Amino acid sequence: MKFFVDTADVPAIAELNDLGMVDGVTTNPSLIKKSGRDILEVTKEICDLVEGPVSAEVTATDADTMIAEGRKLAKIAGNIAVKVPLTWDGLKACKVLTEEGNMVNVTLCFSANQALLAAKAGATFISPFIGRLDDINLDGLDLIADIRTIYDNYGYETEILAASIRTVNHISDCAKIGADVITAPPAVIKSMVSHPLTDKGLDAFLADIKAAKISIL
Ligand code: E4P
Repeated sequence: MKFFVDTADVPAIAELNDLGMVDGVTTNPSLIKKSGRDILEVTKEICDLVEGPVSAEVTATDADTMIAEGRKLAKIAGNIAVKVPLTWDGLKACKVLTEEGNMVNVTLCFSANQALLAAKAGATFISPFIGRLDDINLDGLDLIADIRTIYDNYGYETEILAASIRTVNHISDCAKIGADVITAPPAVIKSMVSHPLTDKGLDAFLADIKAAKISIL
């Protein structure tokens, strides 16, 4: 499973990238606002740092302007994935931008039917939002499973990019279901390492190292 980092925080991306944990990056207008940076400038910096796809989202809602914005974003670097919303105009923009050879990430997906449309429009990635479904007492993971079944039934190559990840359990559950990619905030990815029994075990080993004066170097 591929790991994308859901942030426009360049030092946070760099830290995970140095460990080989970053297969790509996703941004959105809220994350760009949070970074306080110019979208074109920060996106270029991220593209220079990371080898994999870097999603940058359009700001328009009509297809023609989305296409123009997508073409401009795609000029930033060869690893840009143009992110468009899951609307009828977004699907039109997806089709045109895909046919021009660009990667397209169709975002704000909340139903299996939306995901089916995105695949038919040629999307490179579909981004179902797990956490926001959980927020309204629906099961975001059920959506990931439904999309997996549908895409496998018909051999669609669109990659399932599980988004709006809030917990480490979301990540392991997506891996079990077979999502192609997860995108998560750096803090959630880093917290995957934590387990209380690891901490407890290490404390016990350290106590014995000290008691027995065990030394290697
Ligand atoms: C995905 O591409 C989105 O940027 C992101 O995962 C949304 O997450 P949120 O629902 O926590 O804002």
